Amino acid sequence: MTDPFAHLHDEGYAAGFARGRVGHADLIAMSGRRTVSLNGTWKFTPDLFDEGLRQKWYLWRRDPPARWDWPRDYDEEAAYDMTVPSCWNLARAEWMYFEGSGWYARDFTWPAPMHGERTFLRIGAANYEARVFLNGAFIGSHRGGSTPFFLELTDALRGLNHLLIQVENRRERQRVPMHHFDWFNYGGLYREVELVHLPPLFVRSFNVGLTNDGARIAASLALSGPGDGQAVLEIPELDVRVVFPVANGEGRIEFDALPERWSPETPRLYNVVLRYGADVLTERVGFRTIACEGHEILLNGRPVWLRGLCVHEDDLALGKVSEEADVRRRFAHAKEMGCNMLRLAHYPHHEMVARIADEVGLLLWSEIPVYWAIDFDNPDTWADAENQLLEMIGRDGNRASVIIWGVGNENADTDARFHFMARLAEAARAVDPSRLIGAACLINRVEFRIEDRLTDSLDIIGLNEYFGWYERDFSGLERLLANSNPGKPVVISEVGADALAGHRGRADELFTEDCQADIYRRQLETIAAAEYVRGFCPWLLYDYRTERRQTRFQRGWNRKGLIAEDKTTKKLAFGVVADAYRRLAGNR
Ligand code: GCU
Repeated sequence: MTDPFAHLHDEGYAAGFARGRVGHADLIAMSGRRTVSLNGTWKFTPDLFDEGLRQKWYLWRRDPPARWDWPRDYDEEAAYDMTVPSCWNLARAEWMYFEGSGWYARDFTWPAPMHGERTFLRIGAANYEARVFLNGAFIGSHRGGSTPFFLELTDALRGLNHLLIQVENRRERQRVPMHHFDWFNYGGLYREVELVHLPPLFVRSFNVGLTNDGARIAASLALSGPGDGQAVLEIPELDVRVVFPVANGEGRIEFDALPERWSPETPRLYNVVLRYGADVLTERVGFRTIACEGHEILLNGRPVWLRGLCVHEDDLALGKVSEEADVRRRFAHAKEMGCNMLRLAHYPHHEMVARIADEVGLLLWSEIPVYWAIDFDNPDTWADAENQLLEMIGRDGNRASVIIWGVGNENADTDARFHFMARLAEAARAVDPSRLIGAACLINRVEFRIEDRLTDSLDIIGLNEYFGWYERDFSGLERLLANSNPGKPVVISEVGADALAGHRGRADELFTEDCQADIYRRQLETIAAAEYVRGFCPWLLYDYRTERRQTRFQRGWNRKGLIAEDKTTKKLAFGVVADAYRRLAGNR
């Protein structure tokens, strides 16, 4: 007879679930694939103390209470209804600040596979760690709260299936981000969950784009296993149909072609079809080049000045869930402001963001949440950060809008931080030499100049500076810009000030719209003098939730938005930046 209370004394309960962790090597190219959505109403049980793993809820039969043979703690049939995708924080008032585990449960039927077909579960993102159980069997896990992951269900499938997903969103020192950051810690299955049916051997990754010299189109693929034969690539609008060899699971081709170049002004996209055996992928791709030369950023060989804007994934009603209408509103406000670029802070946003940016014409800086004081000495933290970086690149590598991979934000300069982030830059370049690498760097506060040993590893030097706000004396910015000669493009990757919408007062009165507007006016005037500054990213578009800010003006919101959290009420500063961007656009 096993001890029914053994689970109370086993603090090693989670060890068995670290195996089967999936990551970037398990990503599957999804463009144009048919999927079966599992979005909708699931059963949900909050689990603050990880009782589910300790007591192995995933093994329990779902009997009615009349047939329970001992007092349970888990009652799936009577659990809460929860929409997927959603953030549990907004489902019930008592869960607003819930940081722990949540158990999602649902059934689904699935036809018996034919000809060795394979079935994968794809989760768009789960914050922070997820463990998947199918029909009582532990399938695998994933960590990292902003990137998609795939688990193969094939061998555990039945006609009627019981799917259980545990998601855990605790903030922890060794995680990426660690336990201290300036946004809201939403939890749950907050992006889409779907099933995808694949042939026994399929295309796992597929990349297509212009060669760095812009003269040819290069395409490459990797299969899900060793395979040979031929692949066919078609770009109908360019009358391109090329057949190329696949050997030992890989294939690559380059060919002459003169596509119209993609840019924010001309966001030209082409349909691209890739076929290998029974597998077909379709992509909508823009062809462009991006490079740096001295202080210039060159888009399709021509200097571009990044009229940028920072955005978070946050919504009054949706939390971290992205809906297309919300993304398009964000882009419409950015275009109205005169932006040609967005910095997606501080983690990979929903994959539709880059697809829509490709369509409407916006350049993107996309980054991983290596934010502030993460545990740079910890090898497991490195593995997590590297995996999130490679998952971000693996997911969005075919998006013309993405020009910069960001490897971190405002990290104090230690040897451990320097080596960790230089390695991230190296890892990004190794898999994607076609894009620029950036980070929000540091300044030398003694000599008062832009100086950070990490910049040798970067193409773009990001500078988060809040002169006028956190540093009230504006002369510091003038000194900093005059003292610096970075030799690479500098993008002001954050700048701004809090203002409560509707709160008016003197230009030197903190938290007023007048103060925020005045700071932007002086910022834009001052940076215009620095010819190595090639971009400006106000922090940020909309006010957003962050528990750590509690003045009477904030009450749990970061008020640096140029628009309030209603995503409608513009503050005075919106007009100041829009006027400046109109002038900048006219001058280029
Ligand atoms: C920092 C940080 C942001 C933060 C902002 C602020 O630069 O990168 O994430 O929200 O400053 O203080 O509002």
